[in-house]
Amino acid sequence: MQHLLTLFDISPDDLQLILKTAGVVKSKLIAGERPNILNNKVIALLFEKPSLRTRVSFETGMAQMGGASLFLGSDVGWGKRESPSDFTQVLGQFVDAVVCRAKQHAQVELLASFNAMPVINGLTDLCHPCQALADVLTIGEAFGSYANKHLVFVGDGNNVSHSLALICAMLDMKFTLACPSGYQMDADWLSRIRKAYPKADIQTLHDPAAAVKTADAIYTDVWTSMGQEAEMAARRQAFADFQLNKMLMDAAPSSARVLHCLPAVRGEEITDDVIDGPQSDIIRQSGNRMHAQKGLLVWMLATDWITKNVS
Ligand code: CP
Ligand code: NVA
Repeated sequence: MQHLLTLFDISPDDLQLILKTAGVVKSKLIAGERPNILNNKVIALLFEKPSLRTRVSFETGMAQMGGASLFLGSDVGWGKRESPSDFTQVLGQFVDAVVCRAKQHAQVELLASFNAMPVINGLTDLCHPCQALADVLTIGEAFGSYANKHLVFVGDGNNVSHSLALICAMLDMKFTLACPSGYQMDADWLSRIRKAYPKADIQTLHDPAAAVKTADAIYTDVWTSMGQEAEMAARRQAFADFQLNKMLMDAAPSSARVLHCLPAVRGEEITDDVIDGPQSDIIRQSGNRMHAQKGLLVWMLATDWITKNVS
């Protein structure tokens, strides 16, 4: 059964097809067409953490394609009210797929282990694959191609940077993380990328100005992710020199685009003038969450439509 727990679950060819499908479905929407590609399909959204973009983009995406979605919050008692096996097998009889936002990556792995329905990772502590799909859709729209483009992530070696490093390797893009020492990406994750993609061009630097010098896109995310609130004070101190502000933008090419997965802490990891500035694609990037995920859902649940409509 096809799951998307991490981007290791799909091939670079799958990725290209998902992005192409997303582009076709997006163009149709802009032209005023909302084909019922997922008529009568139902997905569940099982979320343990707050969300605006992920939840709303999946729900609206399904509705626009003629399907439905069910938001399952804490009241369903996942992990508390019955065994994981009972919970998952029951859910699998009702829905065509589940999008899961979990505190720990092992929880989405457990959910997928029963093969009761396709599981899509809607963010875990390890990675955020759906975010990365939207991010590269946005980069593709800005530049028209991927190969050799340089994405520089200024900030924490976190879930978002993990998925970006991997998706860059899948698209032959160069990825640089500029982070304070002690906040680099997980070493096992990096070795998995290098093993799967031996040509991956990934580096970690501790000097943000040097890192952005050849950037085509500069990305940042919060210094303190959901669940890390106890570390907030220490993180503010550690990341103080890693703010994406005018000074850092001046060290980058004037053609560089700015990305952020949102929600942002304005004035912390990014300043107002940069987030709202002329180089920012951040709002379009968040809109692309829906288009990218529509591409993913169609690829997972309606292959026939792709055969007929995506060349
Ligand atoms: N970027 C993102 O995943 O946003 P939400 O937490 O609002 O879903
Ligand atoms: N790194 C952030 C991303 C939020 C979309 C977090 O995990 O909270």
